[in-house]
Amino acid sequence: MKLALIGAGYVGLVSGACFAEFGHTVICADLDQSKVDALERGEIPIFEPGLEHIVTHNAASGRLSFTTDVKAAVRSADVVFIAVGTPSRRGDGHADLSYVHAAARTIAEALEGYTIVVTKSTVPVGTGDEVERIIREARPDAEFAVVSNPEFLREGAAIEDFKHPDRIVIGTDDEQARAVMTEVYRPLFLNQSPLLFVERRTAELIKYAANGFLAMKITFINEMADLCEAVGANVQEVARGIGLDNRIGSKFLNAGPGYGGSCFPKDTLALVKTAQDHDSPSRLMEATVSINDNRKRSMGRKVIAACGGDVRGKTIAVLGLAFKPNTDDMRDAPSIAIIQTLQDGGANIRAYDPEGMKAAAMMMENVTFAEDAYDAAKGADALVIVTEWEAFRALDLSRIKSTLKSPVLVDLRNIYRANEMEKLGFAYSSIGRPKSSQGK
Ligand code: NAD
Ligand code: UGA
Repeated sequence: MKLALIGAGYVGLVSGACFAEFGHTVICADLDQSKVDALERGEIPIFEPGLEHIVTHNAASGRLSFTTDVKAAVRSADVVFIAVGTPSRRGDGHADLSYVHAAARTIAEALEGYTIVVTKSTVPVGTGDEVERIIREARPDAEFAVVSNPEFLREGAAIEDFKHPDRIVIGTDDEQARAVMTEVYRPLFLNQSPLLFVERRTAELIKYAANGFLAMKITFINEMADLCEAVGANVQEVARGIGLDNRIGSKFLNAGPGYGGSCFPKDTLALVKTAQDHDSPSRLMEATVSINDNRKRSMGRKVIAACGGDVRGKTIAVLGLAFKPNTDDMRDAPSIAIIQTLQDGGANIRAYDPEGMKAAAMMMENVTFAEDAYDAAKGADALVIVTEWEAFRALDLSRIKSTLKSPVLVDLRNIYRANEMEKLGFAYSSIGRPKSSQGK
């Protein structure tokens, strides 16, 4: 089949490359000339493990190509996926649908023959109706169906998630569209990935409900971590103790500095807004958003407390800037609020991230970027682990200790054991675990 992806970002590029891998002929169209030029040269604009291999291999086979000519891409395709961004709208937190609407207008101008238009972007309930209206108004004669097919991949594990999804959600009541979408996903369907066919509005809501629930689960364990600190319990053991109950499940129970990234923060907020608009407010989502927002800055205050309550003139080494490991994505990363809080307190920051420093440099001021973890620690008054990159899990701790001016280590991802750190002579604090040697 011939597929066009509008938007060659995390979702458009990964989906496009994986669809090409399935054997479809795919064209990824993006308005960003520099992105398309880079892709044509075989350069991948984002850091995503495994992506370079499947992009270059499928481009070489002729199944995957790139263009800035969105209309030509639409004309050539049986199925057009909208995979443009839906960031928070400035001022009110609703999803900004301007890119989706612009894509719909371009599709309307270029449609030829029966075409399935699929919204893969995360969009509020009713957006499919709006996309359909935009196209229908511009092209009353056109033959098309608008389908919702939300994407559930995670950054850093995007290829694996796309090729082995827990489920594929397809929102349509159009029989022909249903048959075409089954064909698009045939390899996964044959591989026993469940295809869930629902109404379009239901599909749109499933996406927000999934992200909202996961964000709430993280927020719950973060609150339990605070309680663990207050009562002297261990949050990792609490997480294991509840996660072994199949009804709860063990995933997404890692306490940390609050969820960040390009999706949970904006999607939880958009869900709050949708619920309010429909007079059906979600108190759980409202609380989740507010608890998580406060948590990021409170992590900065936790570091200040570990430094004796004052960081004025002190140097803090920060390990990890990206919102999670294996990505260079800095969107809504907890590191931003934590570093801001420390800088507001008068601290100097030396930071290191294996992949995120280029993006971080564009949004952070007065941060010294280090060459590696040891360089970051050099002469610092404290070291903070913000993102749990593999490279930070097996640091030479004696070397780190001798490099630091004072051996203060704040581990916001619980990657080290309290008793071992204390044996090494660190003043160690973590999330929701006892400080004393009973901590593991
Ligand atoms: P992104 O910002 O990485 O990429 C979007 C791309 O669309 C950009 O390259 C931009 O230049 C391009 N674009 C914008 N308007 C365009 C237009 N009219 N025509 C052609 N190209 C256009 O965004 P992303 O992270 O890939 O997210 C895309 C959507 O997928 C969002 O709705 C997001 O919520 C959702 N989503 C993202 C992830 C993720 O892990 N990033 C996972 C699941 C769902
Ligand atoms: C998330 C969802 O997991 C994907 O299913 C979804 O498709 C995507 O959002 C999206 O809609 O864009 P992603 O943001 O890439 O994926 O990464 P996650 O692994 O979900 O992590 C999100 C944030 O939660 C990170 O800041 C991470 O550190 C934090 N987190 C995650 C925790 O603090 N604890 C956990 O146990 C898990």
